[in-house]
Amino acid sequence: MSYLLETIYLLRMTNAFQVSQAIHVAATLGIADLLEDGPRSADELAEGTGTDAPTLYRLLRALASVGVFTEIDGRFGLTPLAEYLRTDAPGSLRAWAMQVGQRYFWTSWGHLLHSVRTGEPAFAELYGTTPWEYRAAHPEEDAVFNAAMTNLSAGVVEAVARRYDFSGYGVLVDVGGGQGALLAAILAANPNLRGILFDQPHIVAAAGALLEQAGVADRCEVVGGSFFDTVPAGLTLTCSRASSTTGMTRRRSRSCASAARRWPIPEDSSWSSSSSGRGTSRTRRSSLT
Ligand SMILES: C[S@@+](CC[C@H](N)C(=O)[O-])C[C@H]1O[C@@H](n2cnc3c(N)ncnc32)[C@H](O)[C@@H]1O
Repeated sequence: MSYLLETIYLLRMTNAFQVSQAIHVAATLGIADLLEDGPRSADELAEGTGTDAPTLYRLLRALASVGVFTEIDGRFGLTPLAEYLRTDAPGSLRAWAMQVGQRYFWTSWGHLLHSVRTGEPAFAELYGTTPWEYRAAHPEEDAVFNAAMTNLSAGVVEAVARRYDFSGYGVLVDVGGGQGALLAAILAANPNLRGILFDQPHIVAAAGALLEQAGVADRCEVVGGSFFDTVPAGLTLTCSRASSTTGMTRRRSRSCASAARRWPIPEDSSWSSSSSGRGTSRTRRSSLT
Protein backbone atom coordinates (compact mmCIF):
# COMPACT_ATOMS: atom_id res chain seq x y z
CA MET A 1 0.00 0.00 0.00
CA SER A 2 1.33 3.48 -0.82
CA TYR A 3 1.99 6.19 1.75
CA LEU A 4 -1.07 8.08 0.51
CA LEU A 5 -3.41 5.10 0.74
CA GLU A 6 -2.06 4.14 4.15
CA THR A 7 -2.60 7.60 5.61
CA ILE A 8 -6.07 7.85 4.08
CA TYR A 9 -6.94 4.45 5.50
CA LEU A 10 -5.70 5.36 8.95
CA LEU A 11 -7.45 8.73 8.85
CA ARG A 12 -10.71 7.02 7.96
CA MET A 13 -10.36 4.68 10.93
CA THR A 14 -9.39 7.55 13.23
CA ASN A 15 -12.37 9.64 12.17
CA ALA A 16 -14.83 6.73 12.23
CA PHE A 17 -16.30 8.10 15.48
CA GLN A 18 -17.92 10.89 13.44
CA VAL A 19 -19.60 8.46 11.06
CA SER A 20 -20.65 6.29 13.97
CA GLN A 21 -22.28 9.24 15.74
CA ALA A 22 -23.96 10.38 12.50
CA ILE A 23 -25.44 6.91 11.94
CA HIS A 24 -26.54 6.87 15.58
CA VAL A 25 -28.39 10.18 15.17
CA ALA A 26 -30.09 9.10 11.94
CA ALA A 27 -31.11 5.80 13.56
CA THR A 28 -32.42 7.51 16.69
CA LEU A 29 -34.49 9.92 14.59
CA GLY A 30 -35.89 7.03 12.56
CA ILE A 31 -34.86 8.60 9.25
CA ALA A 32 -34.75 5.29 7.36
CA ASP A 33 -38.30 4.46 8.44
CA LEU A 34 -39.45 7.81 7.08
CA LEU A 35 -37.85 7.02 3.71
CA GLU A 36 -39.52 3.65 3.34
CA ASP A 37 -42.07 5.00 0.85
CA GLY A 38 -39.54 6.94 -1.22
CA PRO A 39 -37.10 9.88 -1.16
CA ARG A 40 -37.87 13.02 0.84
CA SER A 41 -36.26 16.42 1.28
CA ALA A 42 -34.39 17.47 4.40
CA ASP A 43 -37.20 19.97 5.11
CA GLU A 44 -39.81 17.20 5.07
CA LEU A 45 -37.63 14.95 7.21
CA ALA A 46 -36.93 17.77 9.66
CA GLU A 47 -40.65 18.35 10.02
CA GLY A 48 -41.23 14.63 10.61
CA THR A 49 -38.49 14.42 13.23
CA GLY A 50 -38.77 17.80 14.95
CA THR A 51 -35.21 18.76 14.01
CA ASP A 52 -33.40 21.73 12.51
CA ALA A 53 -33.66 21.40 8.70
CA PRO A 54 -30.29 22.91 7.65
CA THR A 55 -28.41 20.84 10.23
CA LEU A 56 -30.30 17.68 9.32
CA TYR A 57 -29.46 18.40 5.67
CA ARG A 58 -25.75 18.47 6.51
CA LEU A 59 -26.02 15.26 8.51
CA LEU A 60 -27.76 13.45 5.66
CA ARG A 61 -25.23 14.74 3.10
CA ALA A 62 -22.42 13.48 5.31
CA LEU A 63 -24.06 10.07 5.50
CA ALA A 64 -24.70 10.07 1.74
CA SER A 65 -20.96 10.62 1.25
CA VAL A 66 -20.26 7.27 2.94
CA GLY A 67 -23.02 5.33 1.21
CA VAL A 68 -25.73 5.58 3.85
CA PHE A 69 -28.61 7.33 1.99
CA THR A 70 -28.55 8.78 -1.51
CA GLU A 71 -29.02 12.42 -2.37
CA ILE A 72 -30.64 13.09 -5.71
CA ASP A 73 -31.97 16.56 -6.61
CA GLY A 74 -32.08 17.58 -2.96
CA ARG A 75 -34.05 14.53 -1.87
CA PHE A 76 -32.65 11.76 0.28
CA GLY A 77 -33.39 8.08 -0.27
CA LEU A 78 -32.45 4.67 1.06
CA THR A 79 -29.36 2.77 -0.08
CA PRO A 80 -28.84 -0.96 0.58
CA LEU A 81 -26.90 0.04 3.73
CA ALA A 82 -29.62 2.41 4.92
CA GLU A 83 -32.19 -0.40 4.59
CA TYR A 84 -30.64 -1.95 7.71
CA LEU A 85 -31.49 1.19 9.66
CA ARG A 86 -35.19 0.54 9.14
CA THR A 87 -36.82 -0.84 12.27
CA ASP A 88 -38.53 -3.75 10.58
CA ALA A 89 -35.93 -4.67 7.97
CA PRO A 90 -34.65 -8.24 8.14
CA GLY A 91 -31.25 -8.00 9.82
CA SER A 92 -32.04 -4.50 11.10
CA LEU A 93 -29.22 -2.80 12.99
CA ARG A 94 -31.25 0.25 13.95
CA ALA A 95 -31.38 -0.58 17.66
CA TRP A 96 -27.67 -1.34 17.72
CA ALA A 97 -26.91 1.99 16.04
CA MET A 98 -29.11 3.70 18.65
CA GLN A 99 -27.25 1.89 21.42
CA VAL A 100 -23.74 2.75 20.25
CA GLY A 101 -24.26 6.50 20.57
CA GLN A 102 -26.16 6.49 23.85
CA ARG A 103 -24.44 9.01 26.09
CA TYR A 104 -23.48 6.59 28.88
CA PHE A 105 -22.05 4.10 26.39
CA TRP A 106 -20.31 6.70 24.24
CA THR A 107 -18.73 8.52 27.17
CA SER A 108 -17.43 5.33 28.74
CA TRP A 109 -15.64 4.43 25.50
CA GLY A 110 -14.31 7.98 25.53
CA HIS A 111 -12.52 7.05 28.76
CA LEU A 112 -10.78 3.99 27.37
CA LEU A 113 -7.42 5.56 28.16
CA HIS A 114 -8.31 5.49 31.86
CA SER A 115 -8.89 1.72 31.67
CA VAL A 116 -5.65 1.09 29.87
CA ARG A 117 -3.69 3.23 32.34
CA THR A 118 -5.22 1.79 35.48
CA GLY A 119 -6.65 -1.59 34.54
CA GLU A 120 -9.95 -0.39 36.02
CA PRO A 121 -13.27 -0.16 34.14
CA ALA A 122 -13.80 3.33 32.76
CA PHE A 123 -17.52 2.89 33.30
CA ALA A 124 -17.16 2.58 37.07
CA GLU A 125 -14.89 5.62 37.14
CA LEU A 126 -17.52 7.70 35.34
CA TYR A 127 -20.74 6.34 36.75
CA GLY A 128 -19.72 4.63 39.99
CA THR A 129 -21.41 1.38 39.03
CA THR A 130 -21.48 -1.37 36.39
CA PRO A 131 -23.28 -0.94 33.05
CA TRP A 132 -25.78 -3.60 34.15
CA GLU A 133 -26.68 -1.76 37.35
CA TYR A 134 -26.73 1.57 35.53
CA ARG A 135 -29.18 0.25 32.95
CA ALA A 136 -31.34 -1.39 35.61
CA ALA A 137 -31.83 2.11 37.03
CA HIS A 138 -32.40 3.73 33.60
CA PRO A 139 -35.29 1.90 31.89
CA GLU A 140 -35.18 3.89 28.64
CA GLU A 141 -31.52 3.17 28.03
CA ASP A 142 -32.08 -0.40 29.14
CA ALA A 143 -34.83 -0.83 26.55
CA VAL A 144 -32.49 0.38 23.78
CA PHE A 145 -29.78 -2.02 24.97
CA ASN A 146 -32.16 -4.98 25.00
CA ALA A 147 -33.47 -4.15 21.54
CA ALA A 148 -29.85 -3.85 20.37
CA MET A 149 -29.04 -7.31 21.73
CA THR A 150 -32.11 -8.69 19.97
CA ASN A 151 -30.93 -6.98 16.75
CA LEU A 152 -27.52 -8.60 16.95
CA SER A 153 -28.91 -12.00 17.84
CA ALA A 154 -31.44 -11.85 15.02
CA GLY A 155 -28.54 -12.05 12.56
CA VAL A 156 -27.43 -15.46 13.81
CA VAL A 157 -30.38 -17.19 15.42
CA GLU A 158 -31.62 -18.99 12.35
CA ALA A 159 -28.20 -20.39 11.53
CA VAL A 160 -27.74 -21.56 15.13
CA ALA A 161 -31.20 -23.12 15.24
CA ARG A 162 -30.54 -24.92 11.95
CA ARG A 163 -26.92 -25.94 12.58
CA TYR A 164 -27.15 -27.41 16.09
CA ASP A 165 -28.99 -30.64 16.72
CA PHE A 166 -31.05 -30.21 19.87
CA SER A 167 -33.18 -33.31 19.30
CA GLY A 168 -32.92 -35.70 22.21
CA TYR A 169 -32.79 -32.95 24.82
CA GLY A 170 -35.60 -32.02 27.14
CA VAL A 171 -34.92 -28.56 28.47
CA LEU A 172 -32.61 -25.89 27.10
CA VAL A 173 -31.61 -23.02 29.40
CA ASP A 174 -30.39 -19.78 27.84
CA VAL A 175 -28.35 -18.08 30.55
CA GLY A 176 -28.09 -14.36 29.95
CA GLY A 177 -30.59 -14.93 27.16
CA GLY A 178 -31.84 -11.35 27.11
CA GLN A 179 -35.40 -11.15 25.85
CA GLY A 180 -35.21 -14.56 24.25
CA ALA A 181 -34.45 -14.05 20.54
CA LEU A 182 -32.08 -17.01 20.33
CA LEU A 183 -34.05 -19.35 22.56
CA ALA A 184 -37.29 -18.54 20.72
CA ALA A 185 -35.72 -19.46 17.37
CA ILE A 186 -34.27 -22.71 18.72
CA LEU A 187 -37.59 -23.71 20.31
CA ALA A 188 -39.46 -22.84 17.12
CA ALA A 189 -37.14 -25.16 15.17
CA ASN A 190 -37.41 -27.97 17.77
CA PRO A 191 -41.07 -28.59 18.64
CA ASN A 192 -40.25 -31.21 21.30
CA LEU A 193 -37.85 -29.02 23.21
CA ARG A 194 -38.78 -26.93 26.23
CA GLY A 195 -36.87 -23.85 27.26
CA ILE A 196 -35.96 -21.73 30.24
CA LEU A 197 -35.01 -18.14 29.56
CA PHE A 198 -32.79 -16.92 32.37
CA ASP A 199 -31.65 -13.34 32.78
CA GLN A 200 -31.87 -10.51 35.27
CA PRO A 201 -35.41 -9.95 36.57
CA HIS A 202 -35.87 -6.51 34.95
CA ILE A 203 -34.76 -7.92 31.58
CA VAL A 204 -36.98 -10.98 31.48
CA ALA A 205 -39.93 -8.91 32.70
CA ALA A 206 -40.34 -7.74 29.08
CA ALA A 207 -39.47 -11.04 27.42
CA GLY A 208 -42.97 -12.35 26.78
CA ALA A 209 -43.61 -10.62 23.45
CA LEU A 210 -40.80 -12.28 21.53
CA LEU A 211 -41.69 -15.72 22.82
CA GLU A 212 -45.36 -15.18 21.98
CA GLN A 213 -44.48 -13.93 18.52
CA ALA A 214 -42.43 -17.07 17.85
CA GLY A 215 -45.31 -19.22 19.11
CA VAL A 216 -43.17 -20.87 21.81
CA ALA A 217 -44.37 -19.11 24.97
CA ASP A 218 -46.19 -22.23 26.17
CA ARG A 219 -42.93 -24.22 26.06
CA CYS A 220 -40.74 -21.62 27.66
CA GLU A 221 -40.42 -20.73 31.30
CA VAL A 222 -39.07 -17.28 32.07
CA VAL A 223 -36.87 -17.06 35.15
CA GLY A 224 -35.32 -13.91 36.61
CA GLY A 225 -32.19 -14.06 38.73
CA SER A 226 -28.44 -13.62 38.79
CA PHE A 227 -26.06 -16.16 37.36
CA PHE A 228 -23.69 -15.23 40.16
CA ASP A 229 -26.06 -17.04 42.49
CA THR A 230 -27.44 -19.98 40.56
CA VAL A 231 -28.90 -20.90 37.19
CA PRO A 232 -31.81 -23.23 36.42
CA ALA A 233 -30.94 -26.83 35.61
CA GLY A 234 -31.07 -28.02 32.01
CA LEU A 235 -28.89 -28.21 28.93
CA THR A 236 -27.13 -24.92 29.45
CA LEU A 237 -26.68 -22.66 26.49
CA THR A 238 -24.02 -20.62 28.14
CA CYS A 239 -24.45 -16.91 28.47
CA SER A 240 -24.74 -15.94 24.87
CA ARG A 241 -22.51 -12.92 24.31
CA ALA A 242 -22.53 -12.01 28.00
CA SER A 243 -19.69 -9.68 28.71
CA SER A 244 -16.29 -10.98 29.66
CA THR A 245 -15.13 -7.42 30.27
CA THR A 246 -17.07 -7.04 33.50
CA GLY A 247 -15.09 -9.68 35.31
CA MET A 248 -18.20 -11.78 35.73
CA THR A 249 -17.23 -14.67 33.52
CA ARG A 250 -15.47 -16.99 35.93
CA ARG A 251 -18.11 -16.80 38.63
CA ARG A 252 -20.88 -17.16 36.08
CA SER A 253 -19.19 -20.16 34.51
CA ARG A 254 -19.15 -21.84 37.90
CA SER A 255 -22.91 -21.40 38.23
CA CYS A 256 -23.40 -22.71 34.70
CA ALA A 257 -21.10 -25.65 35.33
CA SER A 258 -22.92 -26.41 38.53
CA ALA A 259 -26.27 -26.39 36.72
CA ALA A 260 -24.85 -28.58 33.96
CA ARG A 261 -23.82 -31.12 36.57
CA ARG A 262 -27.45 -31.51 37.50
CA TRP A 263 -28.38 -32.37 33.93
CA PRO A 264 -27.64 -35.76 32.35
CA ILE A 265 -24.98 -35.05 29.76
CA PRO A 266 -24.57 -37.39 26.78
CA GLU A 267 -21.26 -39.11 26.15
CA ASP A 268 -20.36 -37.68 22.76
CA SER A 269 -17.45 -35.75 21.36
CA SER A 270 -19.09 -32.34 21.39
CA TRP A 271 -19.02 -32.30 25.20
CA SER A 272 -15.87 -31.54 27.08
CA SER A 273 -14.47 -31.72 30.58
CA SER A 274 -13.53 -28.52 32.34
CA SER A 275 -12.56 -27.39 35.77
CA SER A 276 -15.36 -25.39 37.39
CA GLY A 277 -13.47 -24.20 40.42
CA ARG A 278 -15.56 -26.49 42.62
CA GLY A 279 -14.09 -29.65 41.21
CA THR A 280 -14.15 -30.96 37.68
CA SER A 281 -17.42 -31.09 35.83
CA ARG A 282 -18.50 -31.64 32.28
CA THR A 283 -19.90 -28.63 30.52
CA ARG A 284 -20.97 -27.98 27.00
CA ARG A 285 -18.50 -25.94 24.97
CA SER A 286 -20.01 -22.58 25.47
CA SER A 287 -21.09 -19.38 23.78
CA LEU A 288 -23.13 -19.99 20.70
CA THR A 289 -23.28 -16.30 19.97
C1 LIG B 1 -24.58 -9.34 25.80
S1 LIG B 1 -26.18 -9.57 26.49
C2 LIG B 1 -26.77 -10.99 25.59
C3 LIG B 1 -28.24 -10.93 25.37
C4 LIG B 1 -28.89 -12.12 24.71
N1 LIG B 1 -28.03 -13.22 24.47
C5 LIG B 1 -29.59 -11.70 23.43
O1 LIG B 1 -29.29 -12.25 22.41
O2 LIG B 1 -30.44 -10.82 23.48
C6 LIG B 1 -25.74 -10.29 28.06
C7 LIG B 1 -26.92 -10.64 28.91
O3 LIG B 1 -26.42 -11.07 30.18
C8 LIG B 1 -27.34 -10.62 31.14
N2 LIG B 1 -26.74 -10.54 32.48
C9 LIG B 1 -25.79 -9.67 32.94
N3 LIG B 1 -25.53 -9.90 34.23
C10 LIG B 1 -26.33 -10.95 34.60
C11 LIG B 1 -26.50 -11.65 35.83
N4 LIG B 1 -25.81 -11.35 36.92
N5 LIG B 1 -27.39 -12.68 35.86
C12 LIG B 1 -28.10 -13.01 34.75
N6 LIG B 1 -27.98 -12.38 33.56
C13 LIG B 1 -27.10 -11.35 33.49
C14 LIG B 1 -27.75 -9.25 30.66
O4 LIG B 1 -28.96 -8.80 31.26
C15 LIG B 1 -27.83 -9.46 29.16
O5 LIG B 1 -29.13 -9.75 28.75
